[in-house]
Amino acid sequence: MRIHARAPGGLLAGILAGLLGAAAPVAADAADLASGSQTYQTRCVGCHGMGGRAVNPNAPNFIAGERLSQPDMVLMMSIKTGKTKCPPFFGVLSDRQLLDAIAYIRTFPSQPAQPGQLR
Ligand code: HEC
Repeated sequence: MRIHARAPGGLLAGILAGLLGAAAPVAADAADLASGSQTYQTRCVGCHGMGGRAVNPNAPNFIAGERLSQPDMVLMMSIKTGKTKCPPFFGVLSDRQLLDAIAYIRTFPSQPAQPGQLR
């Protein structure tokens, strides 16, 4: 009888590949800030404002780093599923687009303060 000796290894490799595959785009690719900026300007700026200066009164103040202590994956899940007044972008934007947008948002707190800007 032929035993599928490779099956457990194959299964393990499959699981590993699945795990690595899920993590790889984040670890391997540098974020594309130009693409992130484009996504932000078209989809997010209406509420989160230019440079993260919130327009929507309920939106976090990204300039002060609000919410940005959370890991990318947590922020991405919030944006995918939506959070109260933040609409869900699941099926609208890809993970790559969301991670690029998050990387772009993370540049806001390091921008020089504008006159009269609270930080
Ligand atoms: C219709 C207005 C609106 C739009 C459009 C919008 N947001 Fe939001 N966003 C909000 C509000 C309001 C909150 C605060 C939600 C809360 O904490 O209850 C928020 C919260 C967030 C947070 C913090 C989530 C957390 O876990 O605390 C992130 C990150 C975020 N938005 C990113 C984005 C990105 C990226 C886009 C564009 C792809 C976007 N938002 C589009 C209104 C908006």
